[in-house]
Amino acid sequence: MALYIARMCLVFVVLLLLCVTEAVDRSNFKTCEQSSFCKRQRELKPGQSPYRVLLDTLELSDSRMTLQLINDNNKVRLLLELYRLQGNMTRVKINELKPLKPRYEVRDVLIADPPTEPLLVVTQDKNGLVLSLGQDEQRLIVSARPFRLDILKGPRVLLSLNSRGLLAFEHLRPCKDTISHKITSTFGGMWESIKSLFSSKHDDNTEEVEETETSKKASDKEDQTANEEEDKPGMWDETFKSHSDSKPNGPSSISLDFSFPDVEHVYGIPEHADTLRLKNTHGGDPYRLYNLDVFQYELNNPMALYGSVPVLISHNAQRTMGIFWLNAAETWVDVGSRTAGEGSTPQTDVRWISETGIIDVFIMLGPKPTDVFTQYASLTGTQAFPPLSTLGYHQCRWNYNDQEDVKTVDQGFDEHDIPYDFIWLDIEHADGKRYFTWDPQKFPQPREMLQGLMDKRRKMVTIVDPHIKVDADYKIHSEIRSKDLYVKNKDGADYEGWCWPGSSGYPDFTNPEMRTWWASRFAFDKYEGSMENLYTWNDMNEPSVFNGPEVTMHKDAQHGSWEHRDVHNLYGLYVQMATAEGLIQRSGGTERPFVLTRAFFAGSQRYGAVWTGDNAAEWGHLKMSIPMCLSLGLVGISFCGADVGGFFKHPSTELLVRWYQAGAYQSFFRGHAHLDTPRREPWLFGPENTALIREAIRQRYTLLPYWYQLLYSAHRTGQPVMRPLWVEYPEDPVTFGIENEYLIGKDLLVHPVTDEGAKSVTAYLPGKDEVWFDVHTFQKHEGGQNLYIPVSMSSIPVFQRGGSIITRKDRMRRSSSCMENDPYTLYVALSPQGTAEGELYIDDFHTFNFEKQKQFIHMLLQFSDNTLSSRNLALGSNFTTEAWIEKVIIMGAVQPSSVFLKTTDGVRVAVEFDFDSDTSVLTLRKPGMNAGAEWTVFLQYHQDTPKHNSPEHQTL
Ligand code: GLC
Repeated sequence: MALYIARMCLVFVVLLLLCVTEAVDRSNFKTCEQSSFCKRQRELKPGQSPYRVLLDTLELSDSRMTLQLINDNNKVRLLLELYRLQGNMTRVKINELKPLKPRYEVRDVLIADPPTEPLLVVTQDKNGLVLSLGQDEQRLIVSARPFRLDILKGPRVLLSLNSRGLLAFEHLRPCKDTISHKITSTFGGMWESIKSLFSSKHDDNTEEVEETETSKKASDKEDQTANEEEDKPGMWDETFKSHSDSKPNGPSSISLDFSFPDVEHVYGIPEHADTLRLKNTHGGDPYRLYNLDVFQYELNNPMALYGSVPVLISHNAQRTMGIFWLNAAETWVDVGSRTAGEGSTPQTDVRWISETGIIDVFIMLGPKPTDVFTQYASLTGTQAFPPLSTLGYHQCRWNYNDQEDVKTVDQGFDEHDIPYDFIWLDIEHADGKRYFTWDPQKFPQPREMLQGLMDKRRKMVTIVDPHIKVDADYKIHSEIRSKDLYVKNKDGADYEGWCWPGSSGYPDFTNPEMRTWWASRFAFDKYEGSMENLYTWNDMNEPSVFNGPEVTMHKDAQHGSWEHRDVHNLYGLYVQMATAEGLIQRSGGTERPFVLTRAFFAGSQRYGAVWTGDNAAEWGHLKMSIPMCLSLGLVGISFCGADVGGFFKHPSTELLVRWYQAGAYQSFFRGHAHLDTPRREPWLFGPENTALIREAIRQRYTLLPYWYQLLYSAHRTGQPVMRPLWVEYPEDPVTFGIENEYLIGKDLLVHPVTDEGAKSVTAYLPGKDEVWFDVHTFQKHEGGQNLYIPVSMSSIPVFQRGGSIITRKDRMRRSSSCMENDPYTLYVALSPQGTAEGELYIDDFHTFNFEKQKQFIHMLLQFSDNTLSSRNLALGSNFTTEAWIEKVIIMGAVQPSSVFLKTTDGVRVAVEFDFDSDTSVLTLRKPGMNAGAEWTVFLQYHQDTPKHNSPEHQTL
């Protein structure tokens, strides 16, 4: 009973804190200084590396080269493996040659064993060896003393590893003296000094090195550095606040440095609420990658957040490259960029530090941004292709109270003529936060409710969190317990922590058996009350443990034979993986799933969407939603959004409207709000604001064909959907730091208004030889300039690139499903050369038939020589659509004398058109082609009429 009361008090305190705190409580989260391995590693300063290559250990098979490295200080040997991978990548693995026990190697993230290419040794001598990397005169130089790797193209170094000597590998070792390490952690430095007097030189796995010339030198050095192996505070146990970490395996951290000459800009390593371009970390903390539930996170801060993708991208005008550090343990990343200055060339130094595991690095050599995306996608897969409806608008709040509430909100959308696709139910919908159940009072007839939505071709999402209420009468809990599938604490009992339902167990999602069982729970007969139009939201899957260290799981908890510290950053990915699998299975493998996750890792793109967690109704958070989603897109996660309106606090009406306008142009578009905030459905702020929000949402719906095609393309190729400008204009340095505007695909540029009271924005239109068309006025602007744009509350500055064709659906309906067979309008924006190109992708919008049975339409749309054509890219597919082309709008056109359409069967029909000479817009009315057909439309001119509206022609 006392225990129960104590626990309840704890929950109360936690909840109280949740309610009263205004900003993040930094003291809940470790700084590098407070994380003993980070501190130890950071104390190591650049200098000569103690590691040396034992060249006589070289082994070379077709595609794998191995070499042993020796640490001259402690004689511990490491095994270096080098692979040349297909697609211009190099893999570098470093592990202990003979670890006391296996060290964790990440599973389930790579989609397959990456295919290799033969490795060729070009030269070898006592200083090292040179390997050819095939392409482009690229070489890899392995220097022996000290160990260092350099990747070169011709004479130019692209990237160096361990050039600053920061390779550090804390080898596994037996605990010398349990008493001594306890004292160490208690008395820290004092014990250090005493013990150094009695230090021993060797660990048990230290090897005697053969008496070669190199090894003699090694043992000379050994004598000078005998203290190297001293235990340091925190190596064998560590306490943070009231939490102790027992560290039964002792220290095992790893670190490696990378230098990019001539590079000033690096990006990636989400998730941080920080600038797109990474900042220098000296003088502050490194960027931290450790999935955490950070309450009221702060902006412009390298603190860890809910997800981690250990991928960093370097960029300069010549080349883009990437580093994928495949390690799922707590990781810190130091970044130091030097700009060109007197006497110095630019360079960026990066250092990765992880608590445990091995070094397993993929170096993606580009050279173009698109190549890096392709390379990374070949390793970890591409974005799951979502059902079309999930690209529509989602209405969420914590909580829609009951069935009646759902009905009223649903009707509200109809009454106010606003389209939406999904309404969401948060944790209160379940019976006492027992996921997979419904509150019997508030949601007594879930199927009826779902059917009501289905009748309107709308859908629902319910939350299913991974913490499971400990309650013997709750089937989910009792089955997991009886199957023994919970994570264990360090003593082997089921791990229990506090989360929304109170005392909770945490299923061990790293175990495939657990995932299979979890997936089976989504079957319609298992998840009672569920139907085909019910989808899933996985939250708190960092995992969040209210009473755990840093609000997460104890690192010494056990997942089979691995510790939680080994797999922490993977937990959320596994939860989403199992959930997505469940949604696929419940339809017999037919339907594409939709699962939103808060925690993620490299590879999470394969399982659904991500949102940026608990932001706040503040202008700064609105602004930050852009770089946060752009960073995710750079590392493969293209289906990203932020809570529209801000989760905490109540937005001003202006902020809310601006957020809808910005959110309508981000890939995942969901309004969400905290339990304590006043209601904020789009029609609650007066008719004027309802109209503004309606218009923003409508703009989203008109562009769904474009979004859908981009998601399809992201799924096929790994190219991001939301793109920083430099991705498309890699040689233009002006774009390198831009994060207040971005491209959707390559053809739409968005500069949302994110400042309170803004009367104007200045948008950079890239591309010196390009033109951009304002999508609202069709006004043409030259590229390569900063454009001053006066704005009113209805403005959403968006521009279409001259040279592109974008497909839209301009008829508004209740939801995207109602629009499926609606006709398309083609928006053709001509380049200065009078050309344009785009794509149209159509399928059944929700199943895997596009993949399994090639059931889709994919048309290439092209305009040149006054001819617009549609050509089939989906050879072998026999999918058909009822949808037709109802209008073609050509921007930057010249008035033709006639227009006619020719279909593949040779039929010629005249097409009605009109021309607006003020805007140079030619509109073809009801040309009537089927959207899936091949056809050609000819614009005819009298002989002396210019063929298109190029700048010279305009002056005629
Ligand atoms: C977490 C989520 C938030 C959700 C709440 C209740 O804070 O991030 O979106 O509403 O939990 O489930």
